[in-house]
Amino acid sequence: MAVVARAGRGGGGSPFSSALRSFFSYRIFVSAMFTLLFFATASVLFSSHPAHLSDDTSEIETTGRAYMHRTFLALKSDPLKTRLDLIHKQASDHIMLVNAYASYARKLKLEISKQLKMFDDMAQNFSDLGLKPTYRTALFESDEPVDEEILRQFEKEVKDKIKVARLMIAENKESYDNQLKIQKLKDTIFAVNELLVKAKKNGAFASLIAARSTPKSLHCLAMRLMGERIANPEKYRDEKPKPEFEDPLLYHYAIFSDNVIAVSVVVNSAVKNAEEPWKHVFHIVTDKMNLAAMKVWFKMRPVKGGAHVEVKAVEEFTFLNSSYVPVLRQLESANLQKVYLDNKADNETQDEKNMKSSGNTDTKHLSMLNHLKFYLPEMYPKLHRILFLDDDVVVQKDLTALWKVDLDNKVNGAVETCFGSFHRYAHYLNFSHPLIKDKFNPKACAWAFGMNIFDLDAWRRERLTDQYHYWQDLNEDQSLWKVGTLPPGLMTFYSTTKSLDKSWHVLGLGYNPSISMDEIKKAAVIHYNGNMKPWLDIAMNQFKELWTKYVDSEMEFVQMCNFGL
Ligand SMILES: *[C@@H]1O[C@H](CO)[C@@H](O)[C@H](O)[C@H]1NC(C)=O
Ligand SMILES: *[C@@H]1O[C@H](CO)[C@@H](O)[C@H](O)[C@H]1NC(C)=O
Ligand SMILES: *[C@@H]1O[C@H](CO)[C@@H](O)[C@H](O)[C@H]1NC(C)=O
Ligand SMILES: *[C@@H]1O[C@H](CO)[C@@H](O)[C@H](O)[C@H]1NC(C)=O
Repeated sequence: MAVVARAGRGGGGSPFSSALRSFFSYRIFVSAMFTLLFFATASVLFSSHPAHLSDDTSEIETTGRAYMHRTFLALKSDPLKTRLDLIHKQASDHIMLVNAYASYARKLKLEISKQLKMFDDMAQNFSDLGLKPTYRTALFESDEPVDEEILRQFEKEVKDKIKVARLMIAENKESYDNQLKIQKLKDTIFAVNELLVKAKKNGAFASLIAARSTPKSLHCLAMRLMGERIANPEKYRDEKPKPEFEDPLLYHYAIFSDNVIAVSVVVNSAVKNAEEPWKHVFHIVTDKMNLAAMKVWFKMRPVKGGAHVEVKAVEEFTFLNSSYVPVLRQLESANLQKVYLDNKADNETQDEKNMKSSGNTDTKHLSMLNHLKFYLPEMYPKLHRILFLDDDVVVQKDLTALWKVDLDNKVNGAVETCFGSFHRYAHYLNFSHPLIKDKFNPKACAWAFGMNIFDLDAWRRERLTDQYHYWQDLNEDQSLWKVGTLPPGLMTFYSTTKSLDKSWHVLGLGYNPSISMDEIKKAAVIHYNGNMKPWLDIAMNQFKELWTKYVDSEMEFVQMCNFGL
């Protein structure tokens, strides 16, 4: 969690992100269509009127009717025909779906790609097979019992064609990643259709699926860890804080999250890539509910190399009460609660609403854990610099240079996310508001939360927490920005952000399938912002391994909880 809205979260509410999203749902859609085309072609070849699918859908309907007719006859003939017809029936259901998808495609005026042409050819080849005189007469046009020898030969040819088709699919693997997810849904393919109708309305197929995949494994893991603690209380007594936690000469990280496995990956990846792990200190803050689980994890699986881990609950920072923290105050305001409850309904997939839903609960952006990053100087009063990491990142390099990088007296070292007219301040803030118009340049370049090196001394000096409070208070009615922590971040650190080299932090692995592997390999930190988190079913296969390789798969609870690694 630890994050809800920020730059590049495949949300962001900008035209760019919605373009991406529609591109993305287009990808899923096209692959779904290909899957179905495949079924349909397979079915066409069993029919007496092979049709060329994508030319004209009315032909498909004809095929369907012809098939119905044949079924009736077949019922009283031989078992081979019945079998043929059963396969056929399934296929004709899919033909109906293809029709639905095809009309959807036309509405969207999708550009049909080279791939579709290939599948077209494939479909034609399938049809040609059915048209072969030997098969045509023996299998389809004769009322005699089916000749088993010919059927077998026919079947063999079909299988060969299917093999070719599979090969084609494999070759286009990358773009088919999403298709694999669709294939998982094959059994409930009509449910998919229903989703599609909804997605059509909202233009966000991906997040619909995301919202539906309950991360049971995450709950399972937390429960197991709690159980372990309850069973062995003497083993998990709280320990005294280590002096290293406050030693400003060490390298300090802040990770705020309720997701045990995600945090373990962040810490593990950072430690494994650190040259001097004993100099690294991880400050993990979670909520009351997950505190025990988080503590038990790091007790059972102590970090390697002498690195230090401090686990606390947000509730332990008692200065964060509602008389000090505007967000807590606003949380308590019944008015706001209502706004969010209302918005929870069907509008979830709208652009800006998307920014807040990170997969499970809808109110995450309201949680204190998300806003905690604005209180770093007070939480860690003895420290000079701290590296803030989201829980959906993986560290791939030694990061110590970040604590030495020259920030030019600025407070926040971050990578910028704007390009062209995208991801600029205008996309995040309401520039019709006079205070915004006065203070900010709408063309200023946005940056990302997720990997930020903060100079805490400069922050204290500039009194930036007061700035944040000022804006957060003004936004009680959500007239400055809608949701998330990036907009107040952009305001708070407006003139105090130093742009870091982009290779420090590569974003988009949770929604953008086209990030180059080269760029990813060179990155110090990769960030799975977006809905397709690496711990979910819907993660993009090509990026998943970069995360799973840091999962402690030998841990017994990880094995028990079916993380599907
Ligand atoms: C279709 O068949 C032709 C001739 O057999 C072949 O050249 C072509 O590659 C096939 N196309 C596909 C997509 O399998
Ligand atoms: C809230 O915290 C502030 C310090 O940030 C403290 O002075 C105040 O007494 C606290 N109020 C309550 C009600 O606990
Ligand atoms: C969607 O949001 C609009 C206002 O933003 C609201 O009027 C409408 O009732 C919402 N739809 C649903 C189904 O909640
Ligand atoms: C933007 O600010 C103006 C001026 O305060 C306000 O009237 C308008 O409702 C705001 N827009 C949104 C979307 O909140």
